[in-house]
Amino acid sequence: MLTESMQQALNDQLNAELYSSYLYLSMAAHFQSADLAGMAHWMELQAQEELLHVKKYYDYINDRHGRVLLGAVKGPKTEWDSPLQVFTEALEHEKLVTSLINGLVDLAGSQKDHSTHNFLQWFVAEQVEEEATVAGIVGQLKIIKDNPGALFMVDRELTKRVVAPAI
Ligand code: FEO
Repeated sequence: MLTESMQQALNDQLNAELYSSYLYLSMAAHFQSADLAGMAHWMELQAQEELLHVKKYYDYINDRHGRVLLGAVKGPKTEWDSPLQVFTEALEHEKLVTSLINGLVDLAGSQKDHSTHNFLQWFVAEQVEEEATVAGIVGQLKIIKDNPGALFMVDRELTKRVVAPAI
């Protein structure tokens, strides 16, 4: 059985993952409007992946006989100045998510909730990958600066992202 505070913290994280999906879908819509189809595709898959994270929290809370309580999801930003700004903010967001997950791990440890601690380890590993992937794209965009030809190449490269395997 989850403690009340752990249940609340897991529900908060479920909400944060939903917001992540919403934010990335907003970034995808921004890229669609800018005719950057590869970046839009990448963000659409990112949004989809975040929904898988939501489902993991949903299933886990239910498996522990807790109660999933869905709250309001805040509206994401809708406009950005450049692809570099979008991906930089995506990286900042992933760092925030990492810190939230670390906080959950700390809480599980302090409550000696070994099941939740174990459940969260998947997310700890996932965040390393998420941050590294986005940081790689930010790095490329910093190198190409305002070169349209290079931006076209990066955009085309990002069309190759495929759906993550089921988790
Ligand atoms: Fe669900 Fe991108 O962290």
